[in-house]
Amino acid sequence: MIGHKTMFFLLSAALVLEFVRGQRLLVQNVLDYYRDVFELPRGAVRDVTDVKRAYDFIVIGAGSGGSVVANRLTENKDWSVLLVEAGKEEILLTDVPLLSSYMLSTDYNWGYKAEPQDAACLSMNERKCSWPRGKSMGGTSVINFMVYTRGFKPDYDLWASLGNDGWSYKDVFKYFMKSENIDVPSMKKSRFHSSGGFLNIERPKWRSPLVGSFIEMGKNLGYPTGDSDGLTPYGFYYVLTNTKDGARQSASKAFLRPIRNRANLHVTKRSKVTKILINPTTKTAYGVEYVKNNKKYTVRAKKEVILSAGSLNSPQLLMLSGVGPEEHLKEMGIPVIQNLKVGDNMQDHVSMAGLAFLVNDTVSIIESRFTSARYILDYWVRGEGPYTLPGGAEAVAFVSTKLNDDRRHPDMELVFGPGAFTGDTGGSLRACFNMNDSFYQQVYKPYEGRDAFNVVPVLLRPKSRGAVRLRSKNPFHWPLLYPNYFKDERDLRTMVEGIKMVSLPNTILR
Ligand SMILES: *[C@@H]1O[C@H](CO)[C@@H](O)[C@H](O)[C@H]1NC(C)=O
Ligand SMILES: *[C@@H]1O[C@H](CO)[C@@H](O)[C@H](O)[C@H]1NC(C)=O
Repeated sequence: MIGHKTMFFLLSAALVLEFVRGQRLLVQNVLDYYRDVFELPRGAVRDVTDVKRAYDFIVIGAGSGGSVVANRLTENKDWSVLLVEAGKEEILLTDVPLLSSYMLSTDYNWGYKAEPQDAACLSMNERKCSWPRGKSMGGTSVINFMVYTRGFKPDYDLWASLGNDGWSYKDVFKYFMKSENIDVPSMKKSRFHSSGGFLNIERPKWRSPLVGSFIEMGKNLGYPTGDSDGLTPYGFYYVLTNTKDGARQSASKAFLRPIRNRANLHVTKRSKVTKILINPTTKTAYGVEYVKNNKKYTVRAKKEVILSAGSLNSPQLLMLSGVGPEEHLKEMGIPVIQNLKVGDNMQDHVSMAGLAFLVNDTVSIIESRFTSARYILDYWVRGEGPYTLPGGAEAVAFVSTKLNDDRRHPDMELVFGPGAFTGDTGGSLRACFNMNDSFYQQVYKPYEGRDAFNVVPVLLRPKSRGAVRLRSKNPFHWPLLYPNYFKDERDLRTMVEGIKMVSLPNTILR
C-alpha cells in the first residue's frame, strides 16, 4: 500500500504544481482538484440524469471495447445508445503511468483473486493470485500498464479460418489504422501506423540508463529493434504506450470524452448490470437490468445489447442471464435459456515477475526515490521523467524458446523494467501480486532498497486452459476463477526456458 506520507506529499505536490503550471488562481485550482476527486474532471462524460425506457443499443461496460463501440455507434445520429458502467470516473492519480501498481489496491480494481492453485501462485496469500480487472470509465485501461502491442497476424488469420468472418489480419488491420494517432516522429511515415485516430500512441518521455543495454543485446543477437507492429513481431523494442503527453490515455479518455456532447449517447456510471433480458423463445436479447444507488432499473434495447464487460465479467453475466453450461446453471438455480460452453477455454498470459538482477549504481526505480522533487516536477510541469514509465515497463522482446512448436508465432515475451521487488520498499507491488509476507522476507528483504532491474518472461501461447464459473446466482458475488496456470506441464517447461533466457542471454534463440 502507498504510505500516507507519500500520498500526502504527492497530492500536495500535485496541487502546488497545478498552480504553478496554469498560473491560475490558487482557489480555482483547489476547486478543480476537488472536482477531480468528486468525479468531474474537465472534459469527463456526464452521468445521465433521465434514463429513457428504451434505446436502440445498450452497451454493457465502458472499457476498451465498450468505449470504442459507443463512440462508433453514435456516429449515426439516428441511433440512441445507453452505455452502462459499474465504475466511476478517473482521477488525477490514475493518470500517472508509474503509479499503475498503486491503482490496483484501490476500488478502481474489482479486486478479484483466482481460486487456490496447485501448480502456481504458491507464494501468494492462500495460494491465490490477484486477477486485476478495472472498474472505471475506461475499464482495465485505467489500471493496466498501457503498453501498446497488437496481436500477431497468424492468430487473427486462425480466428478467421475458424469461421469468424471479419477477424483476419487484413480485416482488423484497417481498424488498427483507423483508431490510432501515432505520436512518435520516426513512425509517422510507417505504413503500419497512422495519424488522426482517437487513440494516442507515444513513447515514455524518459529512459533509464539500463534499457539501452537490453535493446543492444537484442541487436547483437540479430533481432530487429524497430517496430513490434510490423509484419513479424520477433524483436526487441522500446515500448509504445497509450499515453498522451506522458499521462495515461484510457479508452474512455480516448474514445468517449471527445464525443461527450453527442445527444444520442447516454452514459450511466456506478451502474452494475445484473441481467441481460433474453426472450427464451426467440433467444433474442431485448434489454438489461442494472442496479444504481441500490435502485433497480430495466431498460429495453430496440436493436442490440452489446456485452463488453471484460473477459471475466462478460461470461459471469451471460451465465447469470441463463446462457452457459446447463448443468452448472441448474446447480445455481438459474433457468437455462441456452446451453453453451460459456466460461470455458480460458487462457491467460501467465508471467514470472519475481526475478531481480542487482546493480551497483543508482540507475533503477526505487520507491523511496519517488518523492524526489525533480521526478514530480518533471511529470507535472513537463509531462516527462520516470513517472511517465508505464508501470515501470520500458522495453519488450518477442522471442522463441526451443520448445516452441510453431515458429510463426513467438512463444515468449520478455518485459524489461528498471526495477524489481527489491525496490518495493512501500509494498505496493507485493500487495498487487498478493505475495505472502514470509516469502518476501525470505527472498527480497535482504536486498531491500537495492538497485535492480527485472526481465519478466510471459507465456504467449499457454497450453493450459482455465474456466470462469458462478459462485452463486447473486450478481454481486465474485465469479469463481480457475486459471489452471501450468496445469499442462509444457507451460512450466516453457516458462523455465524463459527464465534461463533472461539469466543467460546466450540461450536466446535466433
Ligand atoms: C508463503 O509462501 C511460501 C513459499 O511458497 C510457502 O512456503 C509458505 O507456506 C507461505 N506462507 C503462507 C503463510 O502462506
Ligand atoms: C557491486 O558491489 C559489491 C559489494 O560492494 C561488490 O562485491 C561487487 O563486485 C560489485 N559489482 C560490480 C559489478 O561492480
